[in-house]
Amino acid sequence: MSDPKTVKLVDESSHRGSELPLVSGTLGPACIDIGTLYKDTGHFTYDPGYGSTASTKSAITYIDGDQGVLLYRGYPIEQLAEKSSFLEVAYLLLNGELPKQDEFSAFEHDITHHTMMHEAQKNFFQGFHHDAHPMAMLAAAVASLSAFYHENLDVDDPADRKMAAIRLIAKMPTIAAACYRYTIGWPVRYPRNNLDYVTRFLHMMFEVPSEPLQMNPVAAKALDLLFILHADHEQNASTSTVRLVGSTGANPYASIAAGITALWGPAHGGANEAVLKQLEEIGTPDNVEKAVLRAKDKNDSFRLMGFGHRVYKNFDPRAKIIREMCHKVLDELGVNDPLLDVAMKLEEAALKDDYFVERKLYPNVDFYSGIIYKALGIPAEMFTVMFAIARTAGWIAHWIEQHETPGSRIGRPRQVYTGADVRDYLPTGKR
Ligand code: SDX
Repeated sequence: MSDPKTVKLVDESSHRGSELPLVSGTLGPACIDIGTLYKDTGHFTYDPGYGSTASTKSAITYIDGDQGVLLYRGYPIEQLAEKSSFLEVAYLLLNGELPKQDEFSAFEHDITHHTMMHEAQKNFFQGFHHDAHPMAMLAAAVASLSAFYHENLDVDDPADRKMAAIRLIAKMPTIAAACYRYTIGWPVRYPRNNLDYVTRFLHMMFEVPSEPLQMNPVAAKALDLLFILHADHEQNASTSTVRLVGSTGANPYASIAAGITALWGPAHGGANEAVLKQLEEIGTPDNVEKAVLRAKDKNDSFRLMGFGHRVYKNFDPRAKIIREMCHKVLDELGVNDPLLDVAMKLEEAALKDDYFVERKLYPNVDFYSGIIYKALGIPAEMFTVMFAIARTAGWIAHWIEQHETPGSRIGRPRQVYTGADVRDYLPTGKR
């Protein structure tokens, strides 16, 4: 950590000033600590969307948006994507270090032996219509976990926090698969402990009682890689939601359920489902130019889904990896999806267009992922559920980090009030 320096802010009209310390981390820009600003100057800061605001210190993930760098606990995403597994990455995010063999075996054993849902939770799904969106069911089912595991919900107890992490990472695939099976009217499949994390999930998703499922190792490897790429991403909207909810002392299941609902938005994790629907709407490479024109038209709310990012003003490193995966996985699965040609043409057209170049709009993690999910037989409504399974590792790592940090306070932003000035109540006849 470099030595703290300060910046001076002076209000020219009131001559009230504040000398504010600069806070520096291992990497990235220094931050102005504005904790005493209101007391010193009577002013708040104003940053809707938090484009220039650090909400916390964290040691979990680092992003350099200009350089297109993504590190999980210091390890480049490209190396983890090539050499690691989702479960090992989950351990890394939670514990800060890559596991030794015995540490990983113990972690994997814990996860494997907490994959079952409480049997009563299966009834939960009966309350939904079959056409319910799986994200609605997932959020509700995860929030309900606190109704089943209320015996160890002491957020100040490290053992309870660890147990919650194990249960959430272990049960998300089981609950996610149950959501999918309910929408297609198939019976829930129980987790098989003899399978690895991702193969077990695919088995719960696609195995039918009438015949054994032929597991395809290409599908499991592709999904494991997608889970690694989606596991964490600094203080994105859903992770910030988890932290804000967690700052109130809410239990981990409620906090993660809040993250799931935040992720659902099409500006965030819901974009992967929106991308596929948009590619289907565009239909052929010949319609790409028209789509790009619409995306640039300020009078048209149409946006290129899967394009642009608040932080990345360069290629999202995850999008680069997923784009390469697309070709490899579709070839290995023998799938020829014309939407991949549409996506490639769309990317090519946008990256040559001044509107996108000037605004530094590049494909993000959601642009290509849906094409792979589709090739694996996963329906579009389940794409954001895939994102949520992976991001649960990051969410709970941030939730634990927040509770391990001494002096953490409830998050409570202020505002610029633009409503009516003070006024007296008028009786009905005088309004
Ligand atoms: C994720 O934060 C994270 O890390 C998120 C995530 C994670 O791993 O957690 O990376 C996952 O959510 C990825 C993003 C998925 N969302 C989409 O693909 C939806 C499409 N993208 C946009 O809605 C938008 O780019 C956002 C929401 C991603 C970012 O929004 P910003 O930072 O608020 O950017 P902006 O809306 O201020 O846009 C800046 C300019 C605007 O034009 P001008 O006002 O300057 O003329 O770029 C334009 C926007 O109109 N713009 C787009 C565009 N994205 C931005 N124009 C057309 N198509 C787009 N996709």
